[in-house]
Amino acid sequence: MKKLIYPFVVLLLLAGCSKKEEQKEAVTIPGIIPKPVSLTPGNDHIHWDKSVAIIAKSADEKNVADLLAIFLKSKNIDATVSEFTKDENQIALYTIEDSTLHEEGYKLTVDDKGVSIQANSGAGLFYGAQTLLQILTENSKEVPFVTITDYPRFAYRGLHLDVGRHTFPPEFIKKYIDLLAHHKFNRFHWHLTEDQGWRIEIKKYPKLQEIGAYRKETVIGHARTADRNNAKNFDGKRYGGFYTQDEVKDIVKYAADRYVTIIPEIELPGHALAALTAYPNLGCTGGPYEVATTWGVFDDVFCAGKEDTFVFLQDVLDEVLELFPSQYIHIGGDECPKTRWEKCPHCKKRMKEEKLKNTHELQSYFIQRIEKYLNGKNRQIIGWDEILEGGLAPNATVMSWRGEEGGIAAAKQNHDVIMTPGNWCYFDHYQDTSKSEPLAIGNYTPVREVYSYEPVPAQLTADEAKHILGAQANVWTEYIPTSDHAEYMVYPRACAMAEVVWSPKEGRDYKDFLTRMNTHFKRLDEWKVNYAKHIQKEIDSLNISKK
Ligand code: ACM
Ligand code: ZN
Repeated sequence: MKKLIYPFVVLLLLAGCSKKEEQKEAVTIPGIIPKPVSLTPGNDHIHWDKSVAIIAKSADEKNVADLLAIFLKSKNIDATVSEFTKDENQIALYTIEDSTLHEEGYKLTVDDKGVSIQANSGAGLFYGAQTLLQILTENSKEVPFVTITDYPRFAYRGLHLDVGRHTFPPEFIKKYIDLLAHHKFNRFHWHLTEDQGWRIEIKKYPKLQEIGAYRKETVIGHARTADRNNAKNFDGKRYGGFYTQDEVKDIVKYAADRYVTIIPEIELPGHALAALTAYPNLGCTGGPYEVATTWGVFDDVFCAGKEDTFVFLQDVLDEVLELFPSQYIHIGGDECPKTRWEKCPHCKKRMKEEKLKNTHELQSYFIQRIEKYLNGKNRQIIGWDEILEGGLAPNATVMSWRGEEGGIAAAKQNHDVIMTPGNWCYFDHYQDTSKSEPLAIGNYTPVREVYSYEPVPAQLTADEAKHILGAQANVWTEYIPTSDHAEYMVYPRACAMAEVVWSPKEGRDYKDFLTRMNTHFKRLDEWKVNYAKHIQKEIDSLNISKK
C-alpha cells in the first residue's frame, strides 16, 4: 500500500511547487557592497508591519542585536532585543560552530519563518547584520526572501587615517569606524604621530601634548611649489590638538563593539619632529626644533645612539599598550633620512659598538630593539617596507607601500605582509583629472583603479602567498583639512577596496560593481557621507534602471 501511495504524493507535491513557482518569480535583491560569496534569491518578501524582535542570548549576540536595533530605529523600524522567541517578526541571531563558514563568515536566511543570521563569531553576526540592513527595500519594511552565505577573502582588511597632518574630532573618528565596519573592514590603522603634530596623550611626557601637538602655522597650497622662505605662503594660524587617553579608550571600545581592531601607529625613527620639539634631547643635534609647518620628509629624526631615545619610546609604548589591545603595533619605519646619524657621535659610537656596517643597519638595529621590547609584551610589530633595508626584524610584518616589491621580498623571506601599494591604495591621490578637483598630493587613482587591485602578486608561490594577510587603503591628510573632505577622498573608493579585500577574486566585475553602487549611494546618503560622485557618469552610461 505504502509503495503505491508514495509516488502519487510526490507527484502531487511537485505539481504544487511548480504552480507556486509560476505565480512567484525570484525577488530582486538590492546590490550588496561588498559582494557576498553566494546569494540565492527566494520568491517572496517578509512585510514588517509591526515591531521586530531580535532574538539574542550570548554576549556577542546581544551586542550585535543592540547595534542592529539602533540601525533599524534609524530606518524607522521599532526593534526590541529579547532572549526568547516572541510572537512578532523575528530576527534570530545564532552563534554556531560551522567549520565550513570562515571565522568571520555568516549565513543569512530570510524566509516565511523570519530572518536568521548564523555565524561562528560576533564579527560574523555583525557582518550578517550589515548585509541585512543593505537588503531592506526602499521603505525598509520589506525583506526579500534570500539565502546568503558569505565570508571574507582576507583576514586583514584595513583602512588608515593620518591624524598627524590634520586632526579630526572623536565623533568623526567614530563615524569613520562605523562606515568602515559597515563595509566589512576589520582594521583601523590610526596614524597618531607625525612631524606636524603628536596626537595622543602620553601622561609621562606632558610636553608631547603641550608642545608637540601644535604647530605655529601651516603651508598654503602645494608644499612642492610653495616658497618656504616666503611668510606669505603660510597661514599664520596655530593648529593642533590631541586625543586624550579617555577619548582613545572610548574610541577603542567603540571600534571593538563593531569588531574593528585599531592598530595604533607611533612613528619611529623618522617623522618625529613634533616629539623632538617637545623633547629635543632625543634628536642627534639636541635642537632646538620646531613642529613642522610644511609637508615632506625631515632630516631630524630620533637619535639611534642615545639610550634616552629608547627609554622614551618604551615609556610611550607602555602607555600605548595599555590603551590598545591590538596584537599589532605599527612602528612606522618609513622615510627616515640618515643625514644626522652619519654625523652624530652617539650614532657613530652605537654603530661601532654593535658592529653595524652602515646607517641602514643602524635603522635595522633601532627597529629590532623596539620589536624585541614589544615581543616581550606579547605584541607584534608592523612597519612600512623600509624596514627591509639593513635586515628585517625577525618577527615583523611588512606593510608594502612603495609598490609591491617590498611585500614580495618580505613574503619570500617568510614574513607576513599587508599590501598597500600607492598606485591602487592611496586615497590621498586625485580621483579625477578635472581641474576643479580640490588640491591633492598628486597622482591619479580613480575608483576603477582601486577596484582592479589584486593583493596577491603573481610572482609568489602558493606558500609564499599565504603570507599576504590582506590589504589596506591609506589616507594621508596633508591636503585633507576637514572631515567632509576626508569622506570625499575615501568614498566611494573604500567601497571598491572593500570588495578587493572581502569578495572572491573570481566574479569580480567592475560593471557589476557600478550597478550595485547605484543602490549603495542611497545608503551612503542615509549615512550622511560626503562621497565623491565621479563614477555617476560611468553608472549612467550603463543605462541601469533608477529603481
Ligand atoms: C608612507 O606613505 N610614507 C608610508
Ligand atoms: Zn644620533
